[in-house]
Amino acid sequence: MTPLLEIKRVSRFFGGLAAVMDVSFNVNKGEIVGLIGPNGAGKTTLFNVINGFYKPSRGDILFKGQRISGLKPHRICRLGIARTFQVVKPLQRMTVLDNVVASAFLRSDSKREAVKKAEEILEFTGLSSEKDKISKGLPLGMRKRLEIARALATEPELLLLDESFAGLNPTELVQSIEVIKKIKERGITILIIEHHMKVIMSISDRVVVLNYGEKIAEGTPEEVSRDPLVIEAYLGEAPAA
Ligand SMILES: Nc1ncnc2c1ncn2[C@@H]1O[C@H](COP(=O)(O)OP(=O)(O)O)[C@@H](O)[C@H]1O
Ligand SMILES: [Mg+2]
Repeated sequence: MTPLLEIKRVSRFFGGLAAVMDVSFNVNKGEIVGLIGPNGAGKTTLFNVINGFYKPSRGDILFKGQRISGLKPHRICRLGIARTFQVVKPLQRMTVLDNVVASAFLRSDSKREAVKKAEEILEFTGLSSEKDKISKGLPLGMRKRLEIARALATEPELLLLDESFAGLNPTELVQSIEVIKKIKERGITILIIEHHMKVIMSISDRVVVLNYGEKIAEGTPEEVSRDPLVIEAYLGEAPAA
């Protein structure tokens, strides 16, 4: 079966810096794949290349067998890849509902349909009770979940989550993990960048590890956590949670 996403020898340079260097891996339909690595490893840059913010300097990206590298972000989103951002940026002055409605318009023919979809997604992500609040005033955990809700509203097949758990308190963390598991049950494939080792190891089917832009390991959470190269890459980093 064709993998859902194929990253083929992708590099991205910024001047002389190789932020991502010759990285290859696949994501299969229905999987949760964790993308980990120390700060500055190139994780967010790889997301930016996948969703079309940056063109790869080299290499190719295929989605459902179709080459998407070089396409604009809105084209890639329409094909079925949605993402969240490490720094949350929902439209701050809008209500929670309107934020999600704005995303739902991508695949809706009317405002009514968009609102209906948005309300269903707010229910799904546990944000219904907040729907009339202005996004700016929400606590971080809810803003991060709103980001996920906005991404879901575009009806993706592949969801890219960039540190959706960073900065959450233990209660918020549990709520967000539940949402991720439910998203998987819906049949949506997830590529997730995460710093919380325990979380990533418990929810990922497979893990890919980057260090200084290069892939240094790939395997099950158990395999990766035993890998000497991975252990070495994380030495000197404060273990996150
Ligand atoms: N737009 C950019 N211009 C120049 N350097 C960048 C840019 N984006 C990222 N980088 C650099 O690329 C490297 C990887 O960054 P990033 O992908 O954000 O890492 P991670 O998400 O793994 O922490 C870092 O050294 C960062 O400073
Ligand atoms: Mg990052």
